[in-house]
Amino acid sequence: MSEHLDDALLTAIADRFGTPTYVYDLDRMGRRLAALQAALPGAVILYAVKANPNGAVLRSLASSGAGAEVITVGELERAARAGVAPERILVGGPAQDPVLVARAAALGAGLVSLDSPGQWRDWSGRETAARFLVRVNPGLDPHTHEHLATGAPDSKFGLAPGPALALARAVAAWGKLAGFHVHAGSMIRDLTVYDAVFDVLEPLYRALPGLSLLDLGGGFAVPDFPLERFAERAGELAGRLGVSLVIEPGRFLTAAAGTLLTRLVRVKEGGPRTHAIADAGMADLLRPALYGARHAVRALGAPGSGTDANVEAVAGAAKGAEASGTPVDVDGPLCENADRLARDAGLAVPAPGTLLAIAEAGAYGFAMASNYASSLRPAEVAVEHGRFRLVRRRERAEDLWRLEDPEPDAGP
Ligand code: LLP
Repeated sequence: MSEHLDDALLTAIADRFGTPTYVYDLDRMGRRLAALQAALPGAVILYAVKANPNGAVLRSLASSGAGAEVITVGELERAARAGVAPERILVGGPAQDPVLVARAAALGAGLVSLDSPGQWRDWSGRETAARFLVRVNPGLDPHTHEHLATGAPDSKFGLAPGPALALARAVAAWGKLAGFHVHAGSMIRDLTVYDAVFDVLEPLYRALPGLSLLDLGGGFAVPDFPLERFAERAGELAGRLGVSLVIEPGRFLTAAAGTLLTRLVRVKEGGPRTHAIADAGMADLLRPALYGARHAVRALGAPGSGTDANVEAVAGAAKGAEASGTPVDVDGPLCENADRLARDAGLAVPAPGTLLAIAEAGAYGFAMASNYASSLRPAEVAVEHGRFRLVRRRERAEDLWRLEDPEPDAGP
């Protein structure tokens, strides 16, 4: 079975629902989850909901055995609504405001990652069935974009090993400590980062024998995370410490299974760069603007791509690009320079109307989309067993002001 959705299917989806539209291959997400389950047998897999909170995605992963890692009351409600059993929900994050704590306790969330002693003070005053992890800041360079380097010493996350151990002792005194938690960062490909994390964690487990869980967070890079080697090392550590592993993958499960479909509105030539202006931009996919992330762009219907939709337009315009050698950017429709989907997109100059597929958009894509410039957030479509269905409709203008006239008694 091919890993990628074929161009004819993507084209049919764009024709039916318009653009921009996110398309999620739920079968592929399922295969990613199965790969983790096979590589780490017995590990507790908690999907980091922030990567892609769409209900269809959550229901699909939950029905295949994933729990959920949540940091807001919205994520908590979504996980519960998607059928994640409360005992398989972990509440984390540096704030854990009173509304989240109260709701998580009432729902019976099974695990809490404590980021500070203040959080423990709030939780310990409550009736809760939860068991607790203490989040450790490993104080290292996770070799990733600085925005994603949560394990760096100056990040707001977790506690240095000394204070973490002190907090862990306090929690253990109440009989509620399950273990420690590290999320060293996101988009980590270099396994020496995890080795350094293990070196920080091992003495903590030695200092507090009898713990049951070791939560290594998420962060597995896409593509090409060396899963087998990671699993071997993590499994070896867990075996040595006599604990079960917990992992919190987000991107690993959903990124590659998601495609953003966008159509070119206009192509501006004649300057030092050719600007192919699409109907999606930073409001729809923020990662290129925020992290300089590169997402491969492909013109559907380009010669050799398996369908002849668009072929004429693409092939005709491509001649011009070859002749000029001008670099092609795929830009968005908004009014700032950051509004770009891909610089030097490697495309032959396509014509207006060309349909583009932006790859690896299933994680932190729609999840970070906004209404900036009153953009209407894209539709979302799920593909399962070869069939597609709309799982969130495209926003309409009236959605923009729907919340501006709340009921008089709606409160703040
Ligand atoms: N666990 C914790 C505590 C986290 O903070 C995160 C992500 C994850 C798990 C999941 O990490 P993943 O497996 O997806 O790397 N918006 C950024 C990514 C931010 C990740 C934040 N925390 C991006 O688009 O690259």
